[in-house]
Formats: sequence, structure tokens, C-alpha cells
Amino acid sequence: MIVCANFKANKTRQETQAYMAVVESFVSANGISDTVIVFPPFTALEHYGRNVLVGVQNAYPVQNGAFTGEIALEQLEEFGIETILIGHSERRHILGETQESIAEKFRFFAERGFAIVYCVGEPLEVREEGNDALMEYIDKQFEGIDLKYPDLIIAYEPVWAIGTGLTPSLRDIELIHGALRAKTSAPLLYGGSVKVDNAREIMALDNVEGVLVGSGALSASDFCSMIEQASELNTKKGE
Ligand code: PGA
Repeated sequence: MIVCANFKANKTRQETQAYMAVVESFVSANGISDTVIVFPPFTALEHYGRNVLVGVQNAYPVQNGAFTGEIALEQLEEFGIETILIGHSERRHILGETQESIAEKFRFFAERGFAIVYCVGEPLEVREEGNDALMEYIDKQFEGIDLKYPDLIIAYEPVWAIGTGLTPSLRDIELIHGALRAKTSAPLLYGGSVKVDNAREIMALDNVEGVLVGSGALSASDFCSMIEQASELNTKKGE
């Protein structure tokens, strides 16, 4: 299983350090073999321990240069960062990233061997049009994306479920993940209002190999509980 925490624009450097200390020691003390990734804000990048991977929520696809407000490969290398989130709905819909720019970012970081957590997901009006419209929408979000890239992880995150407390039914998650599985063998995460109370049942579904959690992972102890659930399920699903 793969369990990810996306801090977005939350937590200071100090808060992140305290959080990482808790999660690092939990993972090590419990012999967790699942992949745990934390995406802190840029200001909290650091060489943390060896048990939890640290990724970035975004970066500009260049080595360095005149791109005001962005950070690039050079700044990631300083902290040994080799994991990146690409295509998150907040970057698509709030920051205005186009599929073209997302695909360019994907190519740049794939060429450099990064682990890429690539996000897709539909807004509510598309969901309401039914499953065909939904899959068509997601197919467009795969334009220019190499679905065979070996270090690819896909996160299905319906836009209307992010930060709203709403989630699709378990049946719907399974349906979409089944359709995604037909397109790629990359691990599939579900994201959107995952919390301690629903993480287990979501991770237990077919073709769900983990979760990408925003607000529900801001508490280190809640995140550790979800990691524990993942590791328990891992044993069961692997049987
Ligand atoms: P949420 O966010 O868990 O707060 O809904 C998930 C995400 O945006 O990755």
C-alpha cells in the first residue's frame, strides 16, 4: 500500500519537523513496509529520516532559471527530493495549469527518474453526466502522459470530493478504479475526503493500492492510524 499526506499550504517548517519525527518513529517502530510519502510545503523541505519519503507538491520543469515564484530541479536536488505530485486538481483549477503544461512537467520529471504521483479527477458537473462522460474527461487528463512510466502512481481524486467531506460510494470508487486499471498497471490511489474513519474501507477495495490524504492527514496521529490500517490490509489483501 501507498499512503500519502498532502499538506498543501498548511504547516510551518517547525510543525512539519515535529510531524515527521512522529511519523518516522511510528513507521520504524512498527516495521511498516508500506510506502509512506509526505508532501510538505516548500519552506519545510529538509533531509528527514529514511522511513518516510518526502515529495514536492509542485516544481517548475527546468534545472533553474528566471521563473519568479517557482522552484526547480536545483532546489529539489539540494534536499534529495525525487518524488513529485503532478496534476493535482487545485493546480489545474485554481492555479490554471493546462494539460499541456502538466504533460511537459510530467515528461521533464519522468526523464529525470522521479517517482510521480499523477492526479486525475472530474468536477461535479461531469460526474452528473454519467460514467462515460467521466471516463472521457479523465482520458483527456492522460493526454501526453506515459501510463507505462515505471515510477508512476496514479491518484484518482474527484474534484467535488476534495476538502468537502463528500466521497463517492465505495461501489463508484471501485468502478472508476476498475476502469483505470484497464488503462495502466500503475498503483492506483484514491483521494478526496479520506480520513481515519473511511480509509480502511476505501483501501480494502479492489484496485485501490493506497490513499492520498489532505486535511485528514494534518494530524500526525491520524496519519499514523491510516498507515497502520494500510499495513493491516496489506497482509489481508496479499493472502
Ligand atoms: P482532502 O484533499 O483529503 O482534504 O480532501 C485530498 C487532496 O487534495 O489530495
